[in-house]
Amino acid sequence: MNKIIAANWKMNNLKRDIDDFLDKFNKNRESINYKNREILIAPVSIYFDYFKNKVEKYKLNIQVGLQNCHYEDKGAFTGEISPLMVADINADFVIIGHSERRNLFKEDDEFINKKLIATLQKNIKTIFCIGEKLEQRENNETFDILKSQIENGLKNIPNALISNLIVAYEPVWAIGTGKTATVNQIEEVHDFIKDFFKKNIAINLPILYGGSVKPSNIKDIINVNSVDGVLVGGASLKFEDFQKIINFDKE
Ligand code: PGA
Repeated sequence: MNKIIAANWKMNNLKRDIDDFLDKFNKNRESINYKNREILIAPVSIYFDYFKNKVEKYKLNIQVGLQNCHYEDKGAFTGEISPLMVADINADFVIIGHSERRNLFKEDDEFINKKLIATLQKNIKTIFCIGEKLEQRENNETFDILKSQIENGLKNIPNALISNLIVAYEPVWAIGTGKTATVNQIEEVHDFIKDFFKKNIAINLPILYGGSVKPSNIKDIINVNSVDGVLVGGASLKFEDFQKIINFDKE
């Protein structure tokens, strides 16, 4: 399986930052190791075209996606983006259920389930985020929480559609905090998620780790057997850091 290096830019980076990032990406293209890996970036949605046009102009091997979408195709949902539109602009992927959507915007499993049904039915590659909060980990509820996020999130979704899914395990306490889960913690959870999908759906889905991934820890994390890639926030915003993360196997 290729390693997936995915970037979630959240509400960061203006046009000039996109220029800086992609100009540097292009200038340093020879230094980027594309072998056995896929590079995905989700800029802010209103910059999707700007970003994608530049990627195409430079012929960069980057998949460009969105950070969220609604489940309805159209209608009176002020400020939202529909899955039909995600498909219409040819976005390469969409992120659903990020913990910031769950916690700050009060999206629950049921709402996330509707979105997953909508994106997967449209054959949109979907990164489905799950993860426990600190108090849940401290109460030994991690595996129960993850199991219920998966079961509720994927309710009524036929197995055939699940092949377009990527799961991102992002412990909420590790996101944007500088605190990374230990390699043992990551391995234990990734093995659990892999087993769950193999047993219940007979499918080997890519499982990404997210939460304070940076140049200094990428090598240890990505070398865990059940880690198929990473979802990176803060350390993906500047080309120099992201380049080091992509080139995880270069000294
Ligand atoms: P972080 O964010 O790398 O800044 O911790 C990861 C994420 O939220 O996907």
